[in-house]
Amino acid sequence: MKNIDWKSLGFSYMDANCHIRYVWKDGKWDAGELVQSPYMPIHIAATALHYGQAAFEGLKAFCRKDGQVSLFRPAENAKRMAATARRTCMAEVPEAMFVDACQRVVKANLEFVPPYGTGGSMYVRPLLFGSGAQIGVAPADEYTFLVLVTPVGAYYKGGLQAVKAIVLDDYDRAAPLGTGHIKVAGNYAVSLYPHLQAKHAGYPVELYLDAREHKWIEEFATSNFLAVTKDGTYVTVKSGSILPSITNLSLREIAQDLGIPVEVRPIAFDEVTTFAEVAACGTAVVITPVCQIERAGQVYKTGPETGCGPVLERLYKAVQGIQYGELPDTHGWNVEVK
Ligand SMILES: Cc1ncc(COP(=O)(O)O)c(C=O)c1O
Repeated sequence: MKNIDWKSLGFSYMDANCHIRYVWKDGKWDAGELVQSPYMPIHIAATALHYGQAAFEGLKAFCRKDGQVSLFRPAENAKRMAATARRTCMAEVPEAMFVDACQRVVKANLEFVPPYGTGGSMYVRPLLFGSGAQIGVAPADEYTFLVLVTPVGAYYKGGLQAVKAIVLDDYDRAAPLGTGHIKVAGNYAVSLYPHLQAKHAGYPVELYLDAREHKWIEEFATSNFLAVTKDGTYVTVKSGSILPSITNLSLREIAQDLGIPVEVRPIAFDEVTTFAEVAACGTAVVITPVCQIERAGQVYKTGPETGCGPVLERLYKAVQGIQYGELPDTHGWNVEVK
């Protein structure tokens, strides 16, 4: 076991033993290899560097109560990366290869998986990019797929903490027929500037509205929007320009297991004051309760000022319970690292 202060880990990069790297050339992927150095030579004309032909994913491996390490729903990330690859004309990574890559790299870095009870996990970051040279705007003839891992700490040290969100009407995240539904690198480059603006104004998260009318809720910069109505229904956004979150998908399935009604539909911004609880959801923190949303100088209350509402808390405990092997994994979401 590594000499790491697990309890003080945050969400930042730390070198592990190695990453796994594959190359696609002449129509096929190689067998992949574990590489120790976190640096790699890259062609100066690689399409990823010039034209943003790059996609990434994010998932986690957990050390469970029984000591076994497992990945959470890696096949869903494989499917989402394949969708990004198709839209950006990259070689697709077959699902079995994707899951095997995650298992191999976690296995080679087991001593970096935070032990059960520390609240931490191993963040797993698959990356696919055009590594072949091209000077005109065209797809590469060579692709690199790699998976790196890094240990991350418990986000909430003492229960879920509510945050304030802001709508920045001067910025859009995704066009109606654009690339908001896939995880292409460029989506994130263009979100950095508004994100810093929000941060400087004292808001950890920014909420985007639909680009056409600025009337409908879309999602936060790196997480989906979800709400609980006053009569206890789980509501989340239906839109073709948001990223289909695997956390949101899982929370919806858990809500149904718990007898909580689920609605996936367009949500008008005007509805925010009618909700009992609002949150952002994603792999990094699972659920971030949102207590208020500011828009154009007006503050809209959206939930308890501190802590978290009861329905979100139940959902959070249920998903974490499955991930850490404290509750039965009835859906078969945990994939063991053997
Ligand atoms: C734009 C965006 N929305 C939502 C999510 C949450 O998705 P997931 O739950 O699969 O992490 C992410 C993170 O990947 C994201 O970048």
